[in-house]
Amino acid sequence: MKVGFIGWRGMVGSVLMERMRAENDFEGLDARFFSTSQVGGAGPEIGGAQTELLDARDVSALRACDALVSCQGGAYTKEIYPALREAGWTGYWIDAASALRMESDAVLILDPVNRAVIQRGLDEGQKTFIGPNCTTSLMLMALSGLYAEGLIEWVSTMTYQAASGAGAKHMRELVAQMGALAGAAGDALRDPAASALDLDRRVTQALRSDDLPSSEFGFPLAASLLPWIDSAMPEGQTREEWKAHVESNKILATSEPIPVDGQCVRVGAMRCHAQAFTIKLRRDVPLSDVESTLAGAHPWVRIVENDKESTLRGLTPAAITGSLDVPVGRLRKMNMGGEYLTAFSVGDQLLWGAAEPLRRMVAILRERL
Ligand code: HSE
Repeated sequence: MKVGFIGWRGMVGSVLMERMRAENDFEGLDARFFSTSQVGGAGPEIGGAQTELLDARDVSALRACDALVSCQGGAYTKEIYPALREAGWTGYWIDAASALRMESDAVLILDPVNRAVIQRGLDEGQKTFIGPNCTTSLMLMALSGLYAEGLIEWVSTMTYQAASGAGAKHMRELVAQMGALAGAAGDALRDPAASALDLDRRVTQALRSDDLPSSEFGFPLAASLLPWIDSAMPEGQTREEWKAHVESNKILATSEPIPVDGQCVRVGAMRCHAQAFTIKLRRDVPLSDVESTLAGAHPWVRIVENDKESTLRGLTPAAITGSLDVPVGRLRKMNMGGEYLTAFSVGDQLLWGAAEPLRRMVAILRERL
């Protein structure tokens, strides 16, 4: 199978390459690497060999591939994808960007959750397979068991989203802000006897100063949070909040939409998104059944005991960064009644939220072609 990779050097692309190397996915694959800026340069070394970078805007070179995997971003997709299809290319387009997600001929890929939907798409001759929004994917990875059993009437999700979701430069800016705040705290931080109020005054002054590095986020994220992600939608939601409903229903190909709504908030985590769920169950299912249903959904979901030690050890961005695990914890029924369940989950947004569904889609196609 000839597979072309575009945007493999960016953050999501680099995680994809890392994962494909770790899983030995390149073996036996005719991989070609494209570039928008360094055509003719050396591509990555794969199994001791290196190929020349091809032009990511050369439709005839792209057309020679059976499948194309793009982590290049939405602008590239909007420019190249229609040109390729117009040129008669009938290969598989696998993309991390959101540009094509809601197109009627695009299938959203999250195979531990919707393998049957992907299979149906393939059987029906669909050729466009798009990685979903990271927060939505991580919600479904966590709650898949309850969805599969038809136990969910609606979900409200309140998110705590990492800097990486905004981009690589934003991660750097978060750390630069942390450094600037520590610098501004100066003696008040070094001297254990200094008052917390003095420390706070210095930090607050630095947070509000024009010198705080904030060209990417536009505002302080360190020692603060940002309750707005992406653009505004007409109903008062942000686009990130809107995606959770439309994309989760599209991923699952629900016959009747299952409502998902909430608030999306950027916090000072590096690459793990966390979310707190309020779930209205269709009936009052015992908590032990909820736990076994969640845990049995796929190999990556794991129940964390609802106690302090287990939660603080295993249910945080610091614990989960770099891992494919999707822990679900803080599980309990709520004061509102036995049909109201609360849960908390964490997941690496660069893995299940971005690169991993793409990597696995290439593997699914290989089995098939
Ligand atoms: N929109 C997400 C975020 C990124 O800003 O965190 C991945 O879909």
